[in-house]
Amino acid sequence: MEAIRWTLNQMPKGDGRWVSVMSQEHVAKARAFHRSFPQYTVTPLTGLPQMARHLGLGGLYVKDESFRFGLNAFKVLGGSFAIARYIAGELGKDVSELSYSYLTSPDFRRDFGQATFFTATDGNHGRGVAWAASKLGQKAVIHMPKGSAKSRFDNIAKEGAQVTIEEVNYDDCVRMAAAEAAQTEHGVVVQDTAWEGYEEIPSWIMQGYGTMVGEAAEQLGEKPTHVFVQAGVGSLAGAVVGYFVNLYPDNPPKFIVMEAQAADCHYQGALVGDGKPRMVGGDLRTIMAGLACGEPNTISWDILRDYADAFVSCPDWVSAKGIRMLAAPVKGDTAMTSGESGAVGMGLISTLMEDGSYQELCQALELNQTSRVLMFSTEGDTDPEQYRKIVWGGEYPSVYSRRS
Ligand SMILES: Cc1ncc(COP(=O)(O)O)c(C=O)c1O
Repeated sequence: MEAIRWTLNQMPKGDGRWVSVMSQEHVAKARAFHRSFPQYTVTPLTGLPQMARHLGLGGLYVKDESFRFGLNAFKVLGGSFAIARYIAGELGKDVSELSYSYLTSPDFRRDFGQATFFTATDGNHGRGVAWAASKLGQKAVIHMPKGSAKSRFDNIAKEGAQVTIEEVNYDDCVRMAAAEAAQTEHGVVVQDTAWEGYEEIPSWIMQGYGTMVGEAAEQLGEKPTHVFVQAGVGSLAGAVVGYFVNLYPDNPPKFIVMEAQAADCHYQGALVGDGKPRMVGGDLRTIMAGLACGEPNTISWDILRDYADAFVSCPDWVSAKGIRMLAAPVKGDTAMTSGESGAVGMGLISTLMEDGSYQELCQALELNQTSRVLMFSTEGDTDPEQYRKIVWGGEYPSVYSRRS
């Protein structure tokens, strides 16, 4: 499991019915909702001009989500907006009528009562749901897969949620959360992935991620030529790609979807090439906990199948390399704390540009000195012990040969 594997997207297009989920109108509502939070600030988009020059790129920009709401990851954007849209529906209102101040008021508790929000998580999504539920006086029940880090468990428990680490993988935790919600009075599944018949809430979660993408597009000011985005179930990637396709319908940037090799279901689907999603099972062991999902979200798969340019399957050393590069970039650039699921883009682009084995992919994607590359560091050091082992201890050393 040492080599990076890739394939260009040659899948037949579908009917395109899900891309409008990420319309500018929907994302504007998510952004207005998030702006009403006292914790809201626009997270930094950090340009790395020296690194870009070093790698032979025109520009390299990294959205740093370690600053999101004090939660060290972007995920809260999705869960909070989905909960708000669900509540709006129950109250017969539009989400634009619900502000943070109303949702945290006694009036709201009187109007709505109390629901229990169920979800499965590697850590970040569950923390976001638990955080939002606690702020709104609601209950949360969270299931984590086998092998989940104690620090991530503790961060969820701290928000007052009922949280467990199970003996099964992420995808089975999703089924567990859905089954329990169905048996609970006013139980609601707020899952960050969709399946046949469960599409509304995940589409709202993707719109919530639109806040991050909308900020980045504004901060960048001009169209990126390439967007690198990582995928677990693919909701994030679908949100990012969907956002840019709606913004630049005639000439979108090129999209590169990256996965952990142990859970590379999108890549496997693209390899088969018939347009249908594929699944990966087992323990899905990878340091990229947020990407350890073997079953694609059916909505975002639709968007990625139609618009992604390449799918790349990355061994763990790619992410570890990205973590170290962002922690210690080229002199003059700003250092960043980027976690295992956040830094894979940095590790990948540097390897593509510097290791002669990937010239064919660089050429196919037209990655060169004119490229303006955007990527998303979706988390900070959400597992600080692991982070230090990688940065200070040099764990997961890089496997590549320098060109020339
Ligand atoms: C930090 C981080 N980055 C990326 C992802 C991937 O998002 P998705 O599962 O929507 O593909 C996750 C998912 O939990 C995550 O926690």
